[in-house]
Amino acid sequence: MLVLGLETSCDDTGAGIVDATRRIRANIVASQLEDHRPYGGVVPEIAARAHLDVIDEVIARALKEAGLSFEDLSGIAATTGPGLIGGVMIGSVTAKAIAAVRNISFISVNHLEAHALTARLTDDVAFPYLLLLASGGHCQLLFVKGVGDYQLLGRTIDDAVGECFDKCAKMLGLGYPGGPLIERVAKDGNASAFDLPRPMQGRTGCDFSFSGLKTSVRVLMEGKVLTPTLIADMAASLQEAIADSIADRASHAFQILEAAGQKVTAFVAAGGVAANQVLRSRLQTVAHANNVVFKAPPPHLCTDNGVMVAWAGLERLRLGWIDGLDAAARPRWPLEEIRRKS
Ligand code: KG4
Ligand code: ZN
Repeated sequence: MLVLGLETSCDDTGAGIVDATRRIRANIVASQLEDHRPYGGVVPEIAARAHLDVIDEVIARALKEAGLSFEDLSGIAATTGPGLIGGVMIGSVTAKAIAAVRNISFISVNHLEAHALTARLTDDVAFPYLLLLASGGHCQLLFVKGVGDYQLLGRTIDDAVGECFDKCAKMLGLGYPGGPLIERVAKDGNASAFDLPRPMQGRTGCDFSFSGLKTSVRVLMEGKVLTPTLIADMAASLQEAIADSIADRASHAFQILEAAGQKVTAFVAAGGVAANQVLRSRLQTVAHANNVVFKAPPPHLCTDNGVMVAWAGLERLRLGWIDGLDAAARPRWPLEEIRRKS
């Protein structure tokens, strides 16, 4: 069983190919970073055009890397939401056209489900597991019971954590995307230099909040000359505050599951922010305190890619869940709203 997956929901054009033995046969990602950098964030119209410009080539390169042709594929999957609708349309229409012409099964994939299932490809994690999904657009804790079966435990009540990294990086003059840049400069900084709040710490439930943290960074930076030491110290302090807050919320999620009599096989982190090493080691501590293993895909599979879409497609295909060519492209599509078949 071989599945090609296309990812076009934000600023990466990805094509990946996986097989049922969990082998990654190809992983091509064309980043649009340089196109968006002058604007300090992703511009939807530029993103859509850039996906259109490169998608055919990205698919061709993936097939070449795997040494395969369309005839070898059992399915073709595409992110059909949530995300920037122009990009989502380009990926899904391309996948549907190939599926129609080559007579291959089409699988509609929720971008969040693709992140959520990646650890099953990389680490063979068994259901059920606790998942932290932390990306540029989302921050949530989910109880993952099976493919298409997700229970939301907590989510951000304002900004996504990646958005907080990105906006604070902008204030520090670091550029876009902020998460990896903050992580890099934080290595030389003092994490206790600034006394930042730990949003939601100790509160019941496991919702997140990051907008207050962003405001604190803005207030503390106001009128200051951005020296390398100041930038490094603030980056380290921010990263620490975010890691503390997420660790607290994750501990609460474990308590909620325990109170409900639910056992998990692992604590999994996914999404672009899960690439952060400080966060990963903090989450590992939380997992161990709760007697489960911590798993997170390698950083390049945490950020957006076609492999995760191919894998989610394969998981659905082997359950017989294929989709019609009328499957809708959705800008908004919460994970807990998908059931079995989309
Ligand atoms: O999952 P992703 O690639 O795209 C979305 O679906 O949003 O996540 C992108 C987000 C950005 O906000 C980026 O700054 C953040 O993930 N990110 C990181 C790191 N690498 C990417 N945040 C913190 N540390 C990192 N190393
Ligand atoms: Zn993503």
